[in-house]
Formats: sequence, structure tokens, C-alpha cells
Amino acid sequence: MADGLRKGLTSYGDAGFSLFLRKAFIKAMGYSDDALNRPIVGITNTYSDYNPCHGNVPQIIEAVKRGVMLSGAMPFVFPTISIAESFAHPTSMYLRNLMAMDTEEMIRAQPMDAVIVIGGCDKTLPAQIMAAVSADLPTVVIPVGPMVVGHHKGEVLGACTDCRRLWGKYRAGEIDDVEIEAVNGRLAPSVGTCMVMGTASTMACVTEALGLSLPMSATIPAPHAERFRLAEASGRVAAEMAKTKGPKPREILTPSALRNAQIVMQAIGGSTNGLIHLTAIANRSPHKIDLAAFDKLGREVPVLVDLKPSGEHYMEHFHHAGGVPKLMAQLGDLLDLDAKTITGQTLREIVAGAEEVPGQDAIRSKANPIKAEGAIAILHGNLAPRGAVIKQSAASPKLLQHTGRAVVFESVEDMTLRVDDPALDVTADDVLVLRNAGPKGAPGMPEAGYLPIPKKLARAGVKDMVRISDARMSGTAFGTIVLHITPESAVGGPLALVRNGDMIRLDVAKRSIDLLVDDAELEKRRAAQAAAGTPDWAKRGYAQLFNQTILQADEGCDFDFMRAEGK
Ligand code: FES
Ligand code: MG
Repeated sequence: MADGLRKGLTSYGDAGFSLFLRKAFIKAMGYSDDALNRPIVGITNTYSDYNPCHGNVPQIIEAVKRGVMLSGAMPFVFPTISIAESFAHPTSMYLRNLMAMDTEEMIRAQPMDAVIVIGGCDKTLPAQIMAAVSADLPTVVIPVGPMVVGHHKGEVLGACTDCRRLWGKYRAGEIDDVEIEAVNGRLAPSVGTCMVMGTASTMACVTEALGLSLPMSATIPAPHAERFRLAEASGRVAAEMAKTKGPKPREILTPSALRNAQIVMQAIGGSTNGLIHLTAIANRSPHKIDLAAFDKLGREVPVLVDLKPSGEHYMEHFHHAGGVPKLMAQLGDLLDLDAKTITGQTLREIVAGAEEVPGQDAIRSKANPIKAEGAIAILHGNLAPRGAVIKQSAASPKLLQHTGRAVVFESVEDMTLRVDDPALDVTADDVLVLRNAGPKGAPGMPEAGYLPIPKKLARAGVKDMVRISDARMSGTAFGTIVLHITPESAVGGPLALVRNGDMIRLDVAKRSIDLLVDDAELEKRRAAQAAAGTPDWAKRGYAQLFNQTILQADEGCDFDFMRAEGK
């Protein structure tokens, strides 16, 4: 019998009998000895009726199984939990680490020589890659692929940058009830992940840049036939990896590969969430992401991909323009092209095969970038001693240097109650502040950082304001928005000390975010604060584990005990 079925065998003192039992049970499925004697490729199934982003997973699995079997290995599909952005209470981020633990332990628990993880909705690829790096079994990642675009009144629509833009128009009274309902049916016209450069697309591109998935796997639209051919090819690669026992994720995830991923993240106009996820992934390996180095890369790497929300196009246009291989060709020597991928090819070989598409305008050259600097900048200052992020490529240039009066919301609930109150003392020059929305505070760091423009200002034509918080923001959103303020207010970060009317200064060129209140006054305010006890939501179960062990944003929001040994 092949090694595959022996893995993890508990012998109870008689290894032969244990294997006999294991084989007797699995034979109940009708497998032959020939099937069971093959190398085994495990395949995760994250299909769920609650997860439209993963709607094509059953079809991907069929294609993967075909590829595995055509290469002489045996596929075994197993379920793990499924997390969709829109149905994950309190937040999908709250569940990411649970998914990472589930996936890691099921890879460890069951006999397999290689594993294929299939996913896409925002937290899934991060959770699966975190698990893969910890389990360190040969792994192929298959993103489910982006949705195709929608159309409305001659306009191209994408989830969910246009969800926000058109809802903003509805709030401002520019669109009526009938039209917003029509838009609602057109924003997500197929299964697959959000087709702008949100977190799902960001992580799919990052995965490809890391070398953990096949070329073009990030961009092929979810319903296209090509997606299923890629799945079949991924199955073949995994079967070879099962036979040769490598390469393992930690052999692929070198410092060079992690640097390449950060460069690609900047050049695609990637989601701010991507930085948290990549940090968490790196922390599962012996390496780490250094925020200062990431910021420095941002100053050197231009945004080259013209996708919403930083630019104009959508994932299918990026795909037809040549996808990540073409982008990496344009980035050239900024990347370490000698980095190895799971296929055995180097990035240099992949880049050499990138398609030349005459006249395409979704992937620019370094000489003609969308933005001269990268997507994401790291800020520091007395408001964010351990850092904060801003997606400057999706911000209003005139607000990147701005000083304004703080208008403070204590929590997401407080903001929801008061932000549209006509009596709210707020002007377009003010800085909207949201606190208690960090990893512990909310909990699960909701994507509440995109504070709505107060209705009375929106109706007066205000489209953007400086907004700051310890929350996250959807990668699909646009605005001058400072996020991930660390430490968060719920653990005593200085954001907790801001009062209405204080002045706040943002200077992205200087990479600073400061509260213009002197230290003595801040100390007085700190001393007057009551110590926080255990919140009611965290008195038992997973919530208690989460509250006790969640790390801050600069450390990737993983659980402290899940990092690689010695960290
Ligand atoms: Fe799943 Fe956007 S909601 S990727
Ligand atoms: Mg999202």
C-alpha cells in the first residue's frame, strides 16, 4: 500500500491492524486497491449555499479530480468551513483564524501527500495559506476567480466599488428607489469573487506572485471554461507534488517571494486588508513583513494596474491584458525573478511566457503608471505609535495633507445612530473619527473604516472627507481613509483619548498622523480612563479565545499562539 494511506496512522500497538481497519472503512466508498495504492491529493471543499463567491467550487473540484487522476494520483475531497463576506457575523475577519485552524488541522489529521486548497472570498485564501504554511505539506492554491462585470444604463458595474458609489448617489437623492433596486440585481452577475481590486482579487494576485498557484490563476473569470482547465492543470501539478513530496510552502515562501508579493500588492493598487493577511501568512513562516520596508517599496513601486477602485477597469480586463505574468513582466527587475514557484518554474520563466496584447490599457508600463507611488502608505505619529495605513491610490489628492477638527464616534453603533443626524456638528473640513472598531474592540475589526459622509454633507455634494479609525475597510472602497490605527482604542491606544474638537493632522507625504494635543493633556486624559474588563461578548468559547489571543493589525491579527515556532 502507498505511503498516502499510512500517514498519521495511530497504531494502538499494532500498526498492521490499524492500517487494515483504515482500509476496511475507506473501502466502504467502493475504492479499489489500485485507487488506494496511489499517492493521495486532498482537496478542500468550501462550497456553501451562503457563499456565492464560491459558487463554482463544485465544478472546480470536478476538474481538479480529473487532473489528479489523469496524472495517476487519487483525489480525496474534504470539507472545511466556508466564510462569505456578507454572511459572517460579527465579521469575516473574526472567523479567518478559525478557518485557518480548521484547515490546518484537517490537513494534518487526514492522510494525504499533497493538498489543493480552493477559495477566494476575502478571508479564505489568507486562512488557507496560513494553514498551508503551518502544516507545510506540498500545496497548490486555486482561487475561484472573479465575477464577470455587470451593466447598467450603458455603464459597466462591479461589486462592490460601484455598490458604494451608487448607494452614495441614492443617499444623496440622485437615484430613486426603483433604480437602486435595478442596480441591486446587476452588481453581482455571476458566481465568483468581487471583480474589482478588492481583498479577494488582491490576495489572488498575491498568491500568484508568491508562486503558490499556477500562472493566470488570479484573473480568469469564475464562470469561464479556462478556469476549469486551470483547475485540471492544478490537479496535475498537485499529483506530481504528491509523488515527489515537494516543494513545500515554506520552500516557496522565501524572503524574496514575500518581497515580490509586497511589490505586486503595491503595483495592483491592492487592498489594505492584503497587508494584514500577508503579515499573518509571513508570521506562520520563519520570516516576517516589515512595515517600514513595505512603505519604502511603496515609494519605489508605481501602481501599474488600472482597476477600480484606484483606476477604471475590472478583473476580466486585467486578465485579457495578460494578467499577473504581464504585470510582473512590466515590473521586471523590481522583482526577484529567480523566485521559484510550485510548478518548478521561476518567475522569470513565467514572465517570459506572458502574453503580448496590442492596445491593452489595463496594465501600464513603468514609464506610464496610473500613480507614481504604490497603493498603500504606512503612517506613524502620536495617534498611531505602531502604525496605520492609508490606500493613497484611492484617496483624494487634495486631502492627503489636511488638518481638521475631530468629530468622534465611540463605536460603530454610535456612528450608525448619529452620523446622519441633521443636528450633528460637522463640516466638510472636519476629520471623522471612529474608535472601538479594532481587532478586539468591535470585535473582529469590521470594515467600518469607510465611514459614510454625513447625509447633510453628501446632499450638499461632499464626496470625500478625512476619516480615521482602528477598523479595516473593504478593498473595494474609495476615499481619504486612515485605517488599522495601532494599538487600537480598546487596548488603550491613543485613539481612545481623542475628543470632539481636537485638531488632527494628516500628512501622507510625511507619513504622519498626529493629534495636536500636548502630551501633558493626553496623560491627564489617559489617567482618567477606567481600566477595561472582559467584555460580555468574550465570556466563553471561541469569543473568549479570540479576545485573549488576537494580535494587533501590525502583527497580522492572528492568534498569538498560531505564529511560527519561536515567534
Ligand atoms: Fe466574496 Fe467580495 S464578497 S469576494
Ligand atoms: Mg471585501
